[in-house]
Amino acid sequence: MKIKKGKRMEIKHRLIHGDSSKVLKSFPDESIHLAVTSPPYFNAREYSQWPTLSEYLEDMKKIFIETFRVLDNHRVFVLNVGDVNCQLGKQPWTNSRVPLGALFTVMCQQIGFKYVDNFIWHKGEPQSFRHMNGGNNYPFYHYPVNSYEHILIFHKHVLDSTRIPCPVCGTTQVQNNSQSEIGVQSWECNNEECSHRSPGNRGKRYSARSVMMDKGKTPENSIEKEFLQKWRKDIVTFSPVIKIIKGENRLGHTAPFPEDIPEMAIKLYTYKGDTVLDPFAGSFTTSVVAAKLGRNSVGIDMKKDYISLGLKRMKITLSQKRLFESHTHKIEVLDESDIKNISFEKSQVFNKEDYINESEKKNTKNLNKIKKI
Ligand SMILES: C[S@@+](CC[C@H](N)C(=O)[O-])C[C@H]1O[C@@H](n2cnc3c(N)ncnc32)[C@H](O)[C@@H]1O
Ligand SMILES: [Zn+2]
Repeated sequence: MKIKKGKRMEIKHRLIHGDSSKVLKSFPDESIHLAVTSPPYFNAREYSQWPTLSEYLEDMKKIFIETFRVLDNHRVFVLNVGDVNCQLGKQPWTNSRVPLGALFTVMCQQIGFKYVDNFIWHKGEPQSFRHMNGGNNYPFYHYPVNSYEHILIFHKHVLDSTRIPCPVCGTTQVQNNSQSEIGVQSWECNNEECSHRSPGNRGKRYSARSVMMDKGKTPENSIEKEFLQKWRKDIVTFSPVIKIIKGENRLGHTAPFPEDIPEMAIKLYTYKGDTVLDPFAGSFTTSVVAAKLGRNSVGIDMKKDYISLGLKRMKITLSQKRLFESHTHKIEVLDESDIKNISFEKSQVFNKEDYINESEKKNTKNLNKIKKI
């Protein structure tokens, strides 16, 4: 997606109806720059009923494996989930606390994600008297009122030994350095003519990830101080979505997450023009926030009604003229069966293939300059 000077960037939003375990199969590898989602919580809602916990976990795993594959290297997966209480068998005495946060953490590690953080989202004051134990103020059978959910942060780092050219001179005459962290290959420039040499005559050290991060340091990608302050600690308080007004669900979805969650994920872990995926889109909150922040979005939900709801929310969001000042937005509604050869917008900041091609040109220019001198 090359943007000519004076031309507004086109941002695309895809609302896909279908089962993510199938839909994601048709996405290319490493084509998404952030995944942020909240899956159905096991047997907590009408849309999330499974015969057993292990069948539920297997279904979720299939989708997270695909999420890992489609996510670009050195990018982030943000997973919001609550621990639930539910009956694990037919009998009432099988009622148990199910630590979905812990189960998903281990599952994602097994898939290959690096577990990085667990924000505890404190949802405020719940209206419940569960702690009173039905008025029995003697020991045992006391349980706290649940007031938190997890926001789990995972990184994808797959060791890639493609020789990334030096960001200063563009040469591929570089040597292997140690990994800067597990899965992040680091390189050192060996070009004696490179303008970046240390006092001890060492070449520039860098990795695909550091090149991407350096390129992303532009004013449009800077994060406001107040926002960083809000997410300073791993316990963070903000309100859940109030959807029931006068006994009626005004939103049309039973379990939307607040905009705070995708806003955090998008601002902290993507650049303008990146593509954001939500494989359990629900009311398409992620797409709404992506649109507001100038990111492409891809949302998938298996329930047709939610596609209509998402479309309605997107149209309302995009009717705000401010969003069109620097971008034009396009919405596409698709079905599982239409997406055989789907492709997504490249990162404006760092795309490995483009970076290698552009560096080659830069290197040739540098070599010519040296020859002339
Ligand atoms: C917790 S809700 C997500 C809510 C969303 N974050 C929002 O703000 O509205 C989970 C959603 O996943 C959808 N879902 C469940 N299994 C799915 C699957 N295999 N593929 C696609 N969507 C699925 C449900 O229809 C539901 O809307
Ligand atoms: Zn160099």
